[in-house]
Amino acid sequence: MKNLRITLKIASSLDGRIALADGTSQWITSSASRARGHQMRAENDAIMVGIGTVLADDPLLTARTVPLPARQPVRIVADSRGRLPAASRLAQSLDLGRVVAVTTGQATDAAIPAGVDIWRCGNGVRMDVAEFVRRAEAEGLRTLLIEGGSTLAATFIRAGLVDEIAWFRAPILIGGEGLPALGALGLTDLKSATRWRPVATERIGDDVLDTYVRSEQ
Ligand SMILES: NC(=O)c1ccc[n+]([C@@H]2O[C@H](COP(=O)([O-])OP(=O)(O)OC[C@H]3O[C@@H](n4cnc5c(N)ncnc54)[C@H](OP(=O)(O)O)[C@@H]3O)[C@@H](O)[C@H]2O)c1
Repeated sequence: MKNLRITLKIASSLDGRIALADGTSQWITSSASRARGHQMRAENDAIMVGIGTVLADDPLLTARTVPLPARQPVRIVADSRGRLPAASRLAQSLDLGRVVAVTTGQATDAAIPAGVDIWRCGNGVRMDVAEFVRRAEAEGLRTLLIEGGSTLAATFIRAGLVDEIAWFRAPILIGGEGLPALGALGLTDLKSATRWRPVATERIGDDVLDTYVRSEQ
């Protein structure tokens, strides 16, 4: 039984792309949608991204709401090999709140910037997601917002760990060379595709926010 509620947030074009081929993704959705994204951060105990997103976008991952939340969410990076740069905004903003790098037993801690917490989850090449969830629960986290990118999002979907999807869509088209919202899911037939139940649709300016919960299979 999982006690950590996991929401996957995606900000995409109409055709489900989250970045141009060169990795540019700021800003696909409008400032109003991004403000809503900050609200979602403030409502969650922790925010998570993959190291690919940190290296591409150097995000701060704080909740910048007005007023600011009483407490910032824990900021977590899936970083199996310990590549989080010391100069990244995450590592440079420890005064704003806790930052965690999730590595594996194969990683050496030496490269991880001082002050960043290290959670070792599994002994494989990549962070073991089930072990990560157990660790997050043991740390007292009850809600987690995953903000991508496409590789990390696909891992959590494949593992059946995502409870809710918050999908912001902007009315632009990026095309097939853009980065898809989700990496490979390894499906061989449609029957095994996870199904999602739409629970809300909201217009935010010209963008649309669709919320889905996982249908019981
Ligand atoms: N529009 C949006 O909503 C949005 C949001 C976020 C990102 N983006 C865009 O997405 C792009 C980055 O996406 P990405 O797919 O390249 O990278 P990503 O999903 O951010 O990070 C992937 C990396 O996470 C690490 N990782 C650790 N454990 C993992 C696991 N169990 N499963 C999967 N990954 C794991 C792996 O690196 P190690 O093996 O080194 O650990 C992996 O290469 C950027 O262009 C960014 O701008 C867009």
